[in-house]
Amino acid sequence: MRRLLFLLGFGGLALWMAGCQGTAVATPTPTLVPPTPTEITVTQTPSLPILDPDEIAQGETVYAANCASCHGVNLEGEADWKIQNADKSFRSPPHDETGHTWHHPDDQLIEAIALGGARFEGLNIGGTSNMPVFGEILTDEEITAVLTYIKSSWPDDIRAIQWQMSVQTEE
Ligand code: HEC
Repeated sequence: MRRLLFLLGFGGLALWMAGCQGTAVATPTPTLVPPTPTEITVTQTPSLPILDPDEIAQGETVYAANCASCHGVNLEGEADWKIQNADKSFRSPPHDETGHTWHHPDDQLIEAIALGGARFEGLNIGGTSNMPVFGEILTDEEITAVLTYIKSSWPDDIRAIQWQMSVQTEE
């Protein structure tokens, strides 16, 4: 009987030690593991880029000379711009936050400016656009600048949506 108790006691001790070892292996030490830089960039939303004031100023000049006659001096677009003209041509939409320019990512907007109405050639979109082919009139730098000027008129929340869209389509 005494021997049996001894064996039980010994066995219990062995089990206790095994359990202890098992626990020691399984216990994570979270406080000692800092997040890696990759994890930080994935979980944090980068802040909205600041628009270059010189580029905005250049874009404003380009806009006044080339776009304002159709899209309005204050980016307001033509009156009743959602209605097509009798000849099926589209009216010039606003570029401020009341229009749909900000619904498109950068690459589409640059294409729209560079190709103008010619980008619809051969496509059945139910209307025509008399917007000129600015890729033949303006430099790439002027096209980027005029887009930056347009963006500078958008409130931050709208600019953030358009910026996120542009970043996603670049990937
Ligand atoms: C002769 C008139 C005219 C001029 C000048 C003009 N546009 Fe347009 N633009 C239009 C019309 C009409 C549309 C709508 C049909 C279309 O998308 O082509 C348009 C559409 C656009 C769009 C697409 C907007 C969207 O939401 O899809 C952009 C961007 C644009 N114009 C930028 C410019 C810029 C920048 C300039 C000056 C460099 C300019 N336009 C000069 C007539 C003009």
